[in-house]
Amino acid sequence: MKNIVFFSFLVLVAFQQLFAYNLKSPNGNLILKFTLAGNGIPTYALSLGDKQVIENSRLGFELVNDDKSFLDDFEVGDIQTSSFDVTWQPVWGEEKDIRNQYNEMAVTLVQKEKNRRMLIRFRLFNDGLGFRYEFPMQKDLRHFIVKEECTQFAMTGDHTAYWIPGDYCTQEYGYTKSKMSEIRGLMNKAVDHQNIASKVIGEAAVQTALMLKTDDGLYINLHEAALLDYPCMHLELDSENRTFQSHLTPDAVGFKGTLQAPGVSPWRTIIVGTEAKDILASRITLNLNEPCKIQDTSWIRPTKFVGVWWEMIAGGGSWDYTSDYPTIKIGETDYTKAKPHGNHRANSQNVKRYIDFAAKNGFDAVLVEGWNIGWEDWVSNRKEFNFDYVTPYPDFDVKELNEYAHSKNVKLIMHHETGSAYRNYERHMDEAFQFMKQYGYDAVKTGYVGPIVPLGEYHYSQPMVNHFQYVVEKAAKYRIMVDGHEAVRPTGICRTYPNLIGNESARGNEFMSRVPLGHTTILPFTRLIGGPMDFTPGIFELDLSKINPNRHEKMKATITNQLALYVTMYSPLQMVADYPENYERFPDAFQFIKDVAVDWDKSVYLEAEPYEYLTIARKEKGSGNWFVGGTTGAQPHIAAFQFDFLDPGKKYMATVYADAADTDYENNQQAYTIRKMVVTNKSKFKQSVSIGSGFAISLFEITDNKKK
Ligand code: NOJ
Ligand code: CA
Repeated sequence: MKNIVFFSFLVLVAFQQLFAYNLKSPNGNLILKFTLAGNGIPTYALSLGDKQVIENSRLGFELVNDDKSFLDDFEVGDIQTSSFDVTWQPVWGEEKDIRNQYNEMAVTLVQKEKNRRMLIRFRLFNDGLGFRYEFPMQKDLRHFIVKEECTQFAMTGDHTAYWIPGDYCTQEYGYTKSKMSEIRGLMNKAVDHQNIASKVIGEAAVQTALMLKTDDGLYINLHEAALLDYPCMHLELDSENRTFQSHLTPDAVGFKGTLQAPGVSPWRTIIVGTEAKDILASRITLNLNEPCKIQDTSWIRPTKFVGVWWEMIAGGGSWDYTSDYPTIKIGETDYTKAKPHGNHRANSQNVKRYIDFAAKNGFDAVLVEGWNIGWEDWVSNRKEFNFDYVTPYPDFDVKELNEYAHSKNVKLIMHHETGSAYRNYERHMDEAFQFMKQYGYDAVKTGYVGPIVPLGEYHYSQPMVNHFQYVVEKAAKYRIMVDGHEAVRPTGICRTYPNLIGNESARGNEFMSRVPLGHTTILPFTRLIGGPMDFTPGIFELDLSKINPNRHEKMKATITNQLALYVTMYSPLQMVADYPENYERFPDAFQFIKDVAVDWDKSVYLEAEPYEYLTIARKEKGSGNWFVGGTTGAQPHIAAFQFDFLDPGKKYMATVYADAADTDYENNQQAYTIRKMVVTNKSKFKQSVSIGSGFAISLFEITDNKKK
């Protein structure tokens, strides 16, 4: 319960023009210091024990057409403190109970001359800080435009940073590990993609969640929570190379937020710990979002799915149906007169093959991409009317296929690629969702490839943030789950709208041939801080030339690495991404993918070092089964831990999927061993893992009637 405790842990120091207010975390380890410095400039600083985490850093805004802005000349009008401690249950998640415990301080700042008020609300948890700006209803501040948010994160030294380039349109990058001072020099090299929608910010801007490590052993993570009706934040390093400053994504006219009082900014988050594992275990991002707004959530289900997808992404198959027409006009082009080119994969016969495969192996759903007309001419032509989302190609029988799937207890997953023509999508959305309901779809994968159309907007601007949120909320009304690709990176909104069951917003498995080693050991510290990722794991044929003679690329992975990802890359939506026939070649390894859960009662972070290794154990929701996954980066690793997370007094059959003696992520990717052993919570485990590889363990309780 919220409990206002005025000044119980508040120290007020008044010294000339300097006022400092301290707030402690519930366990007393973290201390936030808010200061109103000379000229009425608001600043904050954060420390953990005797270590400084954030040095005095400015807070405020520069506004458009405003001589004073929200930068200085403030007085403290009021300070209120309170404590909060509530445990809540997510609809799905890494654990069934999440504790939300913090001490709060709300500082009202007054600019007397302008008769304006701005409030800064700080929430100090045991594992970090969240703060946001609030603009109460007031006579002399109604609507205003942000030129730039001026929040600073002043670092104590030249930390190691794990970063991707700041970009207004994409996060699909490999990560660079460097000193902060090296970011500028490495920026050109770090822009390593040819994404058709990209707007790199400059030589010193990076994206969040930004992972940092200090020389004296602190792990720090900077991100944001509850990004709603506001532009996405990047971080720009100042010339001294010690301070990051917020850099918001502009809209089409260059504004960085058109705001209204009353209103709030997203939360700025600083997660901090003495071990890398602390960052993974933090629930700050979720806790700073509002509780679930969907009353009946019974239709939201964690899902394991296969798809007519890898055939096009890697295998050379087509989303489109014909080569007859140089351009397509939706509603006018007559596809019944078109000659099929024969490479269209979303045809009924092929889709049935996947439905049969899903049914046989106990998977919930089949994603089908390329089912709807328009793919011959859909992106990069500044074309707004590219899809209608309701007209299937002539060889895709929507009614028959859904009935066939449902008869086998399988669902089809809808695909809405928008080609970033977001206005066209909004125009068709009700009809598209009604169409889904008519045929029994309850999940949609959306996509925003290419520049935003109408042109001018960036993927991460305030209007686009509002569009992505509009899709999620509209879908919730239709009881539809959403998996958004190329949308703005998540910020914990899935707590409020748990029908947002997935996002991409990072470079996924589809580009595992083009990432530095260890990509999957850094993503949990960066992209996944905001929410689950549709990473599309489970590729067994890692040499792409074997499925497509035109792709001379090998994924930087092994089969056991791909198995481990089902545990280490948390998501309630997990794809089983490879061809059915590739799984049929390795039935014993495939067993792990069939067994592994997608929803959890508990998660234990056993070992972690960003970009190097990661071992996580998770307990399946509502059962006694546990699954462990471990992955490595550019170095080999010896994983060593005790099974002390298991229930005492119980015996478990452990099946370990691990490297063979000659496994090699470049030349022997499919070599693995499987061993079984009986373990208890006293048993110890040791496993050597080669570069770019991994291991996975399933643990089933041994009872008298059940042995697995
Ligand atoms: C990019 C998405 O990430 C990918 O999964 C999808 O297949 C294509 N766009 C086509 O929509
Ligand atoms: Ca993508």
